[in-house]
Amino acid sequence: MTHEPVDPPAPGQDPQEPAATRVRVAGEHPYDVVVGRHLLGELPAMLGDRVRRVLVVHPAALAATAEVIHEDLKASGYDAYVAEVPDAEEAKTAQVAAFLWGVLGQADFTRSDAVVTVGGGATTDLGGFVAATWLRGVRVVHVPTTLLAMVDAAVGGKTGINTAEGKNLVGAFHPPAGVLCDLAALESLGRWDFVAGLAEVVKTGFIADERILKLVEEHADALREWGVRPTTPETWAVVAELVERSVAVKARVVGEDLTEAGLREILNYGHTLGHAVELTERYQWRHGAAVSVGMVFAAELARLAGKLDDDVVERHRTILGSLGLPLTYRGDRWERLLSAMRRDKKARGDLLRFVVLDGVGRPTRLEGPDPTLLAAAYAEISADAPTGRGPIAL
Ligand code: GLY
Repeated sequence: MTHEPVDPPAPGQDPQEPAATRVRVAGEHPYDVVVGRHLLGELPAMLGDRVRRVLVVHPAALAATAEVIHEDLKASGYDAYVAEVPDAEEAKTAQVAAFLWGVLGQADFTRSDAVVTVGGGATTDLGGFVAATWLRGVRVVHVPTTLLAMVDAAVGGKTGINTAEGKNLVGAFHPPAGVLCDLAALESLGRWDFVAGLAEVVKTGFIADERILKLVEEHADALREWGVRPTTPETWAVVAELVERSVAVKARVVGEDLTEAGLREILNYGHTLGHAVELTERYQWRHGAAVSVGMVFAAELARLAGKLDDDVVERHRTILGSLGLPLTYRGDRWERLLSAMRRDKKARGDLLRFVVLDGVGRPTRLEGPDPTLLAAAYAEISADAPTGRGPIAL
């Protein structure tokens, strides 16, 4: 949605504005992810005919955007409500979920009403979880406002909250009724939040779409400098294509395997070590920064296992490094990372599992690698403390 409460030109009426792209996500209840600008007109069709009441969930920083949506919904005849939730991970608690259940209960939301989330991945996770659990499931439309949420969190139906014991321990698979990726939201995204989101875009390139890697390689300078100077039309076109392509890959994967029974696991490329880094850093690193280190580790592991050529490993370092993403982590943290990886909810018993590559676009799994192989791969990415922590990680 727009960040200024002004009347946008209707889609297709502004000759400067490329038409929106629609990506279909298959499954029991198929839905569209629309990428473009001025997408508010899409919302009623996504909500469907039966919805009367809509709750718009947003963090404080997006109050103005949420209010535009709220007013538009009221003007379209809905009983619309707004609820403000804390920023980022602070939103993903049982207390905040209970607050939203209270709002829904007091406004008499029925099974045929809906939730709209406006925000980053934490807001879409929380709002999706509340929609999944209210009356055993009501419709939710996500309006992601960060690059990370557009290309990852908002698509695919994973919802959840954290507990004192860990992240995303309580949740549900609850695919949305639709997702609106308004690229205008990225205009106000901070540089390092944008770059951290690019880590997931690059991940998608390595696992499934080499064109993404080529686009990032050609435009790394402009992408890394996001928000430092005005974004040119050429860079906007690149960003639009990166979002569309990343969404298309995610849509294909989750359309085939919603519940992560198999294929969906490839989306965790770089995440096994990445999650351990996040935990070790007490979640003070951005997710994308930790995933960047995790991808370089996974590439080294694949190389040492005889699966991946040196040049593809170097390509990881070149691309991620050109964006300002970290490539190394503290050498003195290996034991801690190893035990965090063993405790990860995605480990199977004591057996560590990694998504690795046989080549660009050829993901595979490595189960229970030899401890000496793991330590050797870590030696390739480890640095003397405290290197590896650039501005991106802060
Ligand atoms: N973020 C990985 C997934 O959605 O499966």
